[in-house]
Amino acid sequence: MQLTIFGTGYVGLVLAAVLADAGNKVTCVDVDAAKIENLKLGIVPIYEPGLEALIIRNRDAGRLTFSTDPREAVEFGEIIFIAVGTPTDEDGSADLKYVLAVASTIGRVMENDRIVVTKSTVPVGTADQVEAAIKRELASRGRDDLSLDVVSNPEFLKEGAAVADCQKPDRIVLGIRAGGSATERTLRELYAPFNRNHEKIIVMDVRSAELTKYAANCLLATKISFMNEIANLADRLGADVESVRLGIGSDPRIGNQFIYPGAGYGGSCFPKDVRALISMGRGVNFEPLITEAVERRNQLQKQVIFEKIVSRLGADLRGRTFALWGLAFKPNTDDMREAPSRVVIDSLLAAGATVRAYDPKAMEECGRIYRGREGLVFCASQEQALTGADALVVMTEWKEFQSPDLKLLGDSLRERLVFDGRNIYDPSSLARHGLTLCGIGRAVS
Ligand code: UDX
Repeated sequence: MQLTIFGTGYVGLVLAAVLADAGNKVTCVDVDAAKIENLKLGIVPIYEPGLEALIIRNRDAGRLTFSTDPREAVEFGEIIFIAVGTPTDEDGSADLKYVLAVASTIGRVMENDRIVVTKSTVPVGTADQVEAAIKRELASRGRDDLSLDVVSNPEFLKEGAAVADCQKPDRIVLGIRAGGSATERTLRELYAPFNRNHEKIIVMDVRSAELTKYAANCLLATKISFMNEIANLADRLGADVESVRLGIGSDPRIGNQFIYPGAGYGGSCFPKDVRALISMGRGVNFEPLITEAVERRNQLQKQVIFEKIVSRLGADLRGRTFALWGLAFKPNTDDMREAPSRVVIDSLLAAGATVRAYDPKAMEECGRIYRGREGLVFCASQEQALTGADALVVMTEWKEFQSPDLKLLGDSLRERLVFDGRNIYDPSSLARHGLTLCGIGRAVS
């Protein structure tokens, strides 16, 4: 098939590369000319395992092209995906300006029947708005004769595993209007290579598909915030949340995934989608109590590591130096959006401390955010970050942080303190090297 994808962010690029790799011809459009030029050269703006190789391979095979010309692109693809950003507006709602701008553009240049698929996570009712925006433009050009079907097909990929998730989805949700059986057939054909072995396609109405994406992300965020609440209780009640986690996760009704306590969730999805769901609820005069609490708990959770530092070393941290391992909001990405590490860095710098930071992938991005901020030093390795440090703070569970040289830690850290924001260390192993572990919800240690 010939496909067009508007937006070369995480979702757009990964989708484009994976669909091209399945044998389709895909063109990606973006308004950012520099980004498109780079992509043509094989320079990928984000770090995502396997993505660059996939893009280059499919570009070289002539299946994947990049363009800034919407007319050419709308002409090219029989299916047009909208995968542009939906940033958070001031009131927490998703800002649809980019999505609706693409819709209007499609309507202005469309010359043939088209299926338009919303891939971005968009509030319930957006597909209707997209359809209305395209039809408005078609009507103004006297092209109401063209057939248009707008489908909601949310994306469930995780950063750091985006290519694999997209290649092996656990479900493919299609929100299709009544009477859209031809559209359903076309999309089933498109997704057939990803729908082998067992049926993964779930067809529903458009609004349910839009709400499904929010329900999925907000339920996952709820699990995390709930576990963080239990961790904070464990800290105060003298229990170890890691034992509690094992004790409850073995119940298949609860499951072992997404119950890892930590320094709060970050990234481009959970925080934004939780706020958007709250805003959607309020928009229909409904108070989404649980989701509001999830958001509040997460805001507070991002401060827990700093609070632990203050309770050990006092509020005045002038003259103190902290090694900080991990900046990205999670491993295998360079994404710093809403990363808990930012709250810790801001708090430490405000309290007068020096931060010696290291991350395998996110240092450039972090440097861009902090732009030479005094007190923040970027180090070439995790070991270098330890030089002259009073304590170590771990904010991302990168593999290479999981088995550190404990003797080196013991010898380097003046206060022999390790603040573990992801609960990756074993308190007794650290204790054997004279180190004190301050984890999340591990009062027992
Ligand atoms: C998430 C969803 O998982 C994905 O399905 C959706 O399409 C986009 O949003 P992503 O944001 O890439 O993906 O990362 P994810 O692995 O889900 O982690 C999100 C955050 O939750 C991270 O900050 C992570 O550290 C945190 N987390 C995750 C926990 O604190 N505890 C857990 O048990 C799991």
